[in-house]
Amino acid sequence: MSRQTIIAGNWKMNTRCESAVALAKGVVAAVGEKPTVQVVLCPPAVYLHTVADAVAGTAVELGAQNLYAAEDGAFTGEVNAAMLTDVGCGYVILGHSERRALMGETDADVSTKLHAALAGNLVPIVCVGETLQDREANQTEAVIETQIRGSLAGLDEVRAAGIVVAYEPVWAIGTGKTASPEQAEEVHAFIRSLLGELFTTDVAAQIRIQYGGSVKPSNAKELLGQPNIDGALVGGASLKAEDFAGIIAAG
Ligand code: G3H
Repeated sequence: MSRQTIIAGNWKMNTRCESAVALAKGVVAAVGEKPTVQVVLCPPAVYLHTVADAVAGTAVELGAQNLYAAEDGAFTGEVNAAMLTDVGCGYVILGHSERRALMGETDADVSTKLHAALAGNLVPIVCVGETLQDREANQTEAVIETQIRGSLAGLDEVRAAGIVVAYEPVWAIGTGKTASPEQAEEVHAFIRSLLGELFTTDVAAQIRIQYGGSVKPSNAKELLGQPNIDGALVGGASLKAEDFAGIIAAG
């Protein structure tokens, strides 16, 4: 089963209007007209429209960093799936460890958002990952299994095939410490076998699993060369067009 590599840049809470446009245009220039990998930019919600204009008519796609799982209504400060598709998003990151840790998002919240994303025609990028404490206590697989089962609760096989999972060990995010290709591959293979149990092996073989955590041009090739690593969710290195381009080139 061949899965198209997907490289997504999670800009987190960075950039301003001008720098967001410059960065998006830099990525567009680096990517060219027909990239062999899929490239998705996830700017802050307030700049989605601006970045959508900057990438319009190019191969670069747009994603959001979060959504609120409700129809329009009295939800001050929130943004729903319909709004995200309206401004051109095709993807949405869900359950990032920063949201889990800082905003108290639970697996049940992620599952609710996942269904709202799918109902709104957005491809969810569902993040899971263990802390250093979990890893040192040999709890990596147990933690990931709980997160996957909870976050994907209620998902059917047909829709499951189209989602993206991002494995992001919390200890590797923004720390400069990358999981070794072997460490990452071990968890990716575990996730794929778990997805096979939850759905079917055929569906599991279609689901793309990204790695995230200090991915940079110098380590991307080896990580992306692993059989179960189908892309990268990039934070810091996505804020410089040349670094992000280097990661895309490695895909
Ligand atoms: O969403 C991206 C990840 O949190 C990785 O961030 O590349 O800065 O470690 P990082």
